[in-house]
Amino acid sequence: MSALIDLYARIAVCPDCDLCQSRNRAVPGEGPEEAEIMFVGEAPGFYEDQQGRPFVGPAGRFLEELLASIGSRRDQVYIGNVIKCRPPENRDPLPKEIEACRQWLSCQIELIKPKVIATLGRYSLAWFFPDESIGRVHGQTCYRDGICFLPMYHPAAALHAASMRRTIEEDFRKLPAALEEARKGPREEVAEPEQMRLF
Ligand code: URA
Repeated sequence: MSALIDLYARIAVCPDCDLCQSRNRAVPGEGPEEAEIMFVGEAPGFYEDQQGRPFVGPAGRFLEELLASIGSRRDQVYIGNVIKCRPPENRDPLPKEIEACRQWLSCQIELIKPKVIATLGRYSLAWFFPDESIGRVHGQTCYRDGICFLPMYHPAAALHAASMRRTIEEDFRKLPAALEEARKGPREEVAEPEQMRLF
């Protein structure tokens, strides 16, 4: 069994927070183990909780459109979430839920070793860069630990707002160049902690 499949089996029965009581299915994430691009969303919603797959509702359809706009498909990228179980009524994830779930996304990143991580929405950005604001850094790349990060707004935010839609479309168009750059290898990382923030 691959380490990723083994991880999925562990996530499926994870008892580490109260969401295990209300979930229908945990949503570990999906995509090729060798994916170069990883999308990290926030949390499963209604449809994801039913199917056990990430981004299968309206936001997922928009994500697929965005992927098509850069000549890609969802089966070529890895798609995961900060938390693996649906919060009741799709409420925001609680800090304790995010912390209880932290190990799973960390393991996924270690196994997949993506070259680019596109964070979707503020919870995903905060998972990696707690002090950054999405309004300030969306659409800008930043290297950390040899990974290129490209923060974006959440596709669900764009579903009913035309201007937000244009912003995400623009940010998405930066992905191919970000990947091209990341394939050349990690940029030199600066040693001074206060200069680590490249955004
Ligand atoms: N929104 C998310 O953040 N993740 C999903 O899987 C679906 C909707």
